Amino acid sequence: MTVVTVGVHIVDILARPVSHIPEGQDTVLVDEIRLTAAGAAAGTAVDLVKLGNDVVTMGAVGDDELGDFLLAVLARRGVDASRLVRRAGERTAASILPIRPDGGRPSFHVPGANLGVTYADLDADVLRTARAVHLGGVDVTFGLGDPAFFELLDALRASGTIVTMDLLSEMPDLLGMARAFLPHVDYVLPNETQAVLMTGAADPAEAARALLAEGPRGVLVTLGESGSLVVTADVTEQVPALKTEVADTTGCGDAYCAGFLTGLLHGQDVMTAARWGTAAAARVATGLGSDVGLTDLDSTLALLQGPPMIDADLRSRAAKVVPGGMYGHLNAALFAPGYPQFFARGEGCRQWDVDGREYIDFMCSWGPVVLGHRHPRVEEAAARQAALGDCLNGPGAIMVELAELLVDTVPSADWAMFSKNGTDATTQALMVARAATGRTKVLMAHGAYHGADPWCTPSLSGTTPNERADLVEFTYNSLESLEAAAATVEGDVAAIIVTPFKHDSFEDQELVEPAFARGARALADRLGAALVIDDVRAGFRIDLRGSWEPYGVRPDLTAWSKAMANGYPIAAVTGTDALRGAAQTLYSTGSFWFSAVAMAAAKATIETLRDTDGIAAMNNAGAQLREGLYEQAKAHGFAVNQTGPVTIPWLSFAGDADLSVAMYWSDACLRHGVYVHPWHNWFMSAAHTEADVARALEGTDQAFAETRARFA
Ligand SMILES: Cc1ncc(COP(=O)(O)O)c(C=O)c1O
Repeated sequence: MTVVTVGVHIVDILARPVSHIPEGQDTVLVDEIRLTAAGAAAGTAVDLVKLGNDVVTMGAVGDDELGDFLLAVLARRGVDASRLVRRAGERTAASILPIRPDGGRPSFHVPGANLGVTYADLDADVLRTARAVHLGGVDVTFGLGDPAFFELLDALRASGTIVTMDLLSEMPDLLGMARAFLPHVDYVLPNETQAVLMTGAADPAEAARALLAEGPRGVLVTLGESGSLVVTADVTEQVPALKTEVADTTGCGDAYCAGFLTGLLHGQDVMTAARWGTAAAARVATGLGSDVGLTDLDSTLALLQGPPMIDADLRSRAAKVVPGGMYGHLNAALFAPGYPQFFARGEGCRQWDVDGREYIDFMCSWGPVVLGHRHPRVEEAAARQAALGDCLNGPGAIMVELAELLVDTVPSADWAMFSKNGTDATTQALMVARAATGRTKVLMAHGAYHGADPWCTPSLSGTTPNERADLVEFTYNSLESLEAAAATVEGDVAAIIVTPFKHDSFEDQELVEPAFARGARALADRLGAALVIDDVRAGFRIDLRGSWEPYGVRPDLTAWSKAMANGYPIAAVTGTDALRGAAQTLYSTGSFWFSAVAMAAAKATIETLRDTDGIAAMNNAGAQLREGLYEQAKAHGFAVNQTGPVTIPWLSFAGDADLSVAMYWSDACLRHGVYVHPWHNWFMSAAHTEADVARALEGTDQAFAETRARFA
């Protein structure tokens, strides 16, 4: 036996649609009348059984016909009602619910035997065998607010039983009494009105925090069509409702509780269990009454895998208010068709899209998230700074501390300047080089990405030829080509800008030839130009000291960003003493460049990477992924190329010039919970454990199998 529901048992009599109560004795024909087992204990019990749980329900009903009916319905639905007490001479609680055409549901209610339920009516022996106890409506079964019952609940929880609590009334006095239960339950699930009435708080989030402070491990406030708000010590997050054709919302709260509890009993975390609750509620909303629409667990959970309706809705709204609906590198229209555009949250190496689908994330937000989403040390440092202030009249002490950390960590850095994006940093580095040399030309590799300002954006739209006139291109890894490029602008080269390895989109990646790196250094010295390493993408994933440090090649200037602060917005240029004076002459600034929170996050990120050897962790996980993918590709008969450092990996299919195989495979990976990219390199984080990679490889294996079937 698994779950015991305790509390309110009601017979619901529902009619739909009812737009008004007729005058006098008039009759109005309606489409449907139903009688159901309802109430926060009985309704939830029925839903729990449908979701595959064994359920015993406890409480009281009258010895009237409605009581007979309720017992018969519960039995028919598979709920063990043998512990329900029948009170001689009392009425069974019942509601008449004329459902309005818009789903609204006024009610007429007789509380009946529920009001008299006490601890003596419960079977403590059965409760002791339960894996979960759900208290349904203890605000109206106030006889249960008994110290002996609290003691039993505490003992049950100590032995591992999960205790959840839902409420029924919207009466402040009754709800106030139910607060006595809060220290004795694991999760409380009020609706928005109840949460606010119980606490006097201004909004559901504040109310949830107030309820949490009274003892439970979590508070889940149901918000109707806005979904639910989950608040625990670690999480405050809204779970969106699933889009569905709403016929009648009666019983949605009970279904949410049943789905949530079922999720917990299946070992899911609180957020995932909340999504199970959301799916169960969405099922029940489709029909008249407390249990219609809910049939079984699999079809309920399938709703979570269903077409991404929230994403589609957001896309169509965005199309009206954002050019093209989305722009730039995160525009999902540029990837394979199944890619979600909108995301709800991230945790460690996982992300969830707005439709609740979970992915093991190998893009890490296109680089920034290097320690895993919401890394505690980074979040703590950011929150500590945020509590003091972020964007002030000047930088905080943290700017000096962060610059000192960079200077201590990066051998080529004698100073640091901060900004926001990688493009700020590459642009600023070239300004320093030009200020130092008084020259104009910049040598850059053909096809390299250095950002999205007019001088470097890959699309010429919106730029003028003048803005690109000072760039001279060379071929990556060809010293000959670099020297030839320099010769065309002899005497006017301000800088050579180069990425630590070749990571152009749509192409296999190429590690730098050490001779090329050394040759570029020597050429810059010979020309009196600055060697600028654009470490925006690779920085903090190859070597904390700078990505060419292993080759013994030190730049004059380095541009950093992406992984520097685990997702907080910051970029930096570091440089040598020789360029300090030139850097000082620039007027280079921005409204948000000196915000302290991102700086605090950057310091915590770099220190964590250093203290935990985060790069070694990424190397291990990346090597495991690469090896696993090679084996799988071979087993499925695909020739693949895996290129770049294992911490910034990419996989392409041999002969797949139009990327159709890569598009199909990456889309299939998504369907199996793995987020990779068809034409841009991926990123590992220090949060990818061996188990995460092993789980991801299960998904990629299925994706290879499906791709083989498609391209047989
Ligand atoms: C090598 C390199 N440089 C510069 C940039 C530009 O950085 P941001 O997008 O932060 O402006 C990027 C971004 O992907 C990059 O990969």
